Amino acid sequence: MKVQQKSGLAIVLIVVGLALAVVTKTGAQGTSQQEDIIRGAILYDNWFAALGVDAPPGDMPIWSRQSTNTRSGPDTWRCVECHGWDYRGAQGAYASGSHYTGFPDVMLLTRQMTEADIVAHLKGAKDPAHDFSPYLDETSMRQLAAFLKRGLIDDSLYIDAVSLKVIGGDVDHGQRLYQSVCAACHGEDGTKIVFRSEGVNEYLGTVAARDPWRFLHRTRFGVAGTEMPVGATLGWLPSDGRDVLAYAQTLPTGLEETSPAPASEGAEPAQQIGGPATNWWTGILTGLGSFLGALGYAILFIGGFALVGFVVVTILRRRK
Ligand code: HEC
Ligand code: HEC
Repeated sequence: MKVQQKSGLAIVLIVVGLALAVVTKTGAQGTSQQEDIIRGAILYDNWFAALGVDAPPGDMPIWSRQSTNTRSGPDTWRCVECHGWDYRGAQGAYASGSHYTGFPDVMLLTRQMTEADIVAHLKGAKDPAHDFSPYLDETSMRQLAAFLKRGLIDDSLYIDAVSLKVIGGDVDHGQRLYQSVCAACHGEDGTKIVFRSEGVNEYLGTVAARDPWRFLHRTRFGVAGTEMPVGATLGWLPSDGRDVLAYAQTLPTGLEETSPAPASEGAEPAQQIGGPATNWWTGILTGLGSFLGALGYAILFIGGFALVGFVVVTILRRRK
């Protein structure tokens, strides 16, 4: 009976060890999947900057199907310029203003598509003018698809489309996150780095006020070609990005003296929050994965074997 209990315990330990190993493995996979999503998001923002190449010459062929957005050249090749920082295209923040093109909502369209469908579309399967295969390698297209299928959040849950204010943000929490991560580069009040956006000087507070969607996207995923920390890598949830945005909306904008331009006017593409972790559970898995990593994996196994050995030795001793 005693021996049975002990061997029962040993089996339980093995099972627990294996379960932990599986969770760790899943977490590690979650991390590389997350890296694809982050990379896809950066490619969506500006694939040629991310790949360190020049934009193709001239305008993207589809660009001539509209005349409302008068930008030209490299911007016309960016996914974000046609599909928006909120991914809603003409259904979202780009429904009016200087970025209006009438081009579609990829959040809606990709709901019906598999990642393979998206890659095929990026190769021009449906519309030869939408063919990015001369410029994007297979991996980049796959990462874009991963982002579009698994990295999007519905910005309308976080940003009021009329007032451009954050919905339900926790400013104090945002301030703590901002001070601990962002202030080092952007300064206490967000004015240390000045962005030159379409001929206008902007502070972090200006971007937060005028283009909260772009702010969110870039806070979640970083900015191509910079060393900026990535919310998604820090394990932030979309709500963390939202809170930082809420705090950033209290920072100086430099627009006080002049009358602020309507947010959708002249502002660059903007975006969203947080991290690709879509809920607490994936957050915990991802956290576990990155925390334990290969080392944790090894320790778990060695520890598990040591424990089993210990139990077996104890059982044998007791039997004497
Ligand atoms: C110049 C504007 C423009 C750019 C740049 C652009 N798209 Fe599109 N996209 C469109 C238009 C227009 C459509 C709908 C018609 C079509 O499929 O050509 C579309 C459709 C899509 C669809 C839906 C396809 C379907 O089958 O319904 C996806 C997904 C998509 N684009 C992703 C991207 C990604 C990713 C990028 C960046 C690599 C990108 N687009 C760049 C204009 C653009
Ligand atoms: C290591 C320095 C560094 C840190 C830390 C940092 N940033 Fe940045 N950030 C940059 C740089 C560099 C740029 C790009 C400046 C440019 O484009 O001229 C940038 C750009 C941005 C932009 C894009 C602005 C635009 O015009 O679209 C946003 C939004 C932003 N940062 C938010 C944040 C937030 C939020 C944090 C804290 C989570 C943060 N940054 C932390 C360096 C940093």
